[in-house]
Amino acid sequence: MPLINYIEFDGKEYSVNVAEGVSLMQGALDNMIDGIVAECGGCCVCCTCHCMIDPAWSEAAGIAAADESELLEMLDVREENSRLSCQVKVTSAMEGMIVRLPESQY
Ligand code: FES
Repeated sequence: MPLINYIEFDGKEYSVNVAEGVSLMQGALDNMIDGIVAECGGCCVCCTCHCMIDPAWSEAAGIAAADESELLEMLDVREENSRLSCQVKVTSAMEGMIVRLPESQY
C-alpha cells in the first residue's frame, strides 16, 4: 500500500498507507484526517474534498475529467494543482505523494 502524506493547512502532517484503487478522499476519511469533508460521499458533486497534489506527483495523479474540472471551477481557492480527492485513485506510482488540504474545509 503506497504511503500518502496529507498535510493540513496549518502544517500538521499525516503519513498513512492507502490501498491501491482507493481514492485519496477515502484514504483521508479512513484515517480520520481533518480537511476532507466529502459531503457527497465521493459522487463528484459537492467539491468538499478539494486537495492540492504536490507537483512532483501530478503526472501520477493524472488530469481531472470534465465533470471534475467543472466543479473545480467553482472553488474560490482553486490552484493549478487542485483536484477533487474523491476522483484520484491511489496507484503504486503515488508512493510518498504529498497532498495538501485547504483551510476552507476546516
Ligand atoms: S466527495 Fe463530493 S466531490 Fe468529492
